[in-house]
Amino acid sequence: MALQLGLLDRSRKTISKEGYVEVPVTGPLPGLEARLQEAPDFYDKNPELADLLADSISRVERVLLPKGWSILGKVIIVKVDPEIEDLVGRIGEALLDMYPRCSTVLLDRGIEGKLREPDRKVIAGSAETETVHREDGVVFKLDPRRVMFSPGNLRERMRMGSLGGGETVVDMFAGIGYFTLPMAVHSRPNRIVAIEINPIAYGYLVENVRLNHVEDIVQPILGDCAVATPKGIADRALMGYVGTTDQYLDAGIAALRPGGVLHYHQTVPEKLYPRRLEEDLAEAGERAGRSVKIERCARVKKYSPGILHAVVDARVE
Ligand SMILES: C[S@@+](CC[C@H](N)C(=O)[O-])C[C@H]1O[C@@H](n2cnc3c(N)ncnc32)[C@H](O)[C@@H]1O
Repeated sequence: MALQLGLLDRSRKTISKEGYVEVPVTGPLPGLEARLQEAPDFYDKNPELADLLADSISRVERVLLPKGWSILGKVIIVKVDPEIEDLVGRIGEALLDMYPRCSTVLLDRGIEGKLREPDRKVIAGSAETETVHREDGVVFKLDPRRVMFSPGNLRERMRMGSLGGGETVVDMFAGIGYFTLPMAVHSRPNRIVAIEINPIAYGYLVENVRLNHVEDIVQPILGDCAVATPKGIADRALMGYVGTTDQYLDAGIAALRPGGVLHYHQTVPEKLYPRRLEEDLAEAGERAGRSVKIERCARVKKYSPGILHAVVDARVE
C-alpha cells in the first residue's frame, strides 16, 4: 500500500521484528496509524551519491562529497565543502534522483544571528521552498530557506510532547512551534503562551497552530521574551534557545509560579558540562531570591567541535 501511494521511504530499510514488520513511510497511510521509528536503519547514502556522480568527479572530489543531509517535507538541505562548491548543481541533481518525492535542494551555509536566519540557496529543483514537514503526529509548515528547524533536537521535541498536561506553559523562544506544537498536540496543556521575535517564524507559528487545531491552547505573541514574558503564571517555562540564553534566565524564573519547572537550554564546552549550567541557574536563583533545584541535566546534541547543546530541568520555589 505504501508503495502504491508513493509513501514508501526509500532511504530507510524495512525491519522485521518479532511478530511485526516496520515499513518506513514518508507520511500517514489512510486508515493506519503511523509511528515514529525508534531505531531507523538507513541505507548507506554516501556511496549512492558518489555512484551517481562517479563519471563526472575526481577521486579527491569524491572524498569531499557530503556524508549526510537532512530532509524537511519535500526539501533536502545539504552542506557542501567549499572546496567543491562548483559541484553543488550536480550534487543537488543527484540528491533529487535519490529522493524522487523531494522537489528542491538547498545549499546550507549555516544559521545566523539572534533571529536564527538561515543562509541557504536553491541549488537544484523548484524555486518553491515552502513545505510541510510531519513528525511524531505534528504538522510543521515552514520555509527552510527562511527559518531554522534542527533535526538533531527530535528527542527533545518528543520529550516536550510528553510534558505539560493541564498546565500553564510559557515557551519563550517558540520559533515555528518546535516545542509548543508537540506539547499542545500530545499533552494538551491548559494554555501555552508562545513568544517569538522573528516575524517570519511567528507567521509560521500562527499558521501551524491552526494546522494542528490547537488554537484553543496556544496563544502566539510576536515580541522579545525579555519583555513579553508574563510573570508568576507558569507551571513550566521553555527556554529553547542557545548562545545567550543565560541573559533571559531572570525572565524565565520570573514567569514561574512557586514549584514551576524551567527547561534551560544552552551551549557549553564539554569539559564544563553540566557545572557551568548549574552555576548559571544558581546565580539566577540568587538574583531572584528563589530556590532553584536541578532535577535533570541532559545532552541534546553535539553543537560544534568541543561544544554541547544541553538542557537542564530545574524546579523553582
Ligand atoms: C533556535 S530556535 C529554536 C530551536 C528549537 N529548539 C528546535 O528544536 O529546533 C529559537 C527561536 O528563538 C527566537 N528568539 C531569539 N531571541 C528571542 C527573544 N529575545 N524573544 C523571543 N524569541 C527569540 C529565534 O528567532 C528563533 O526562532
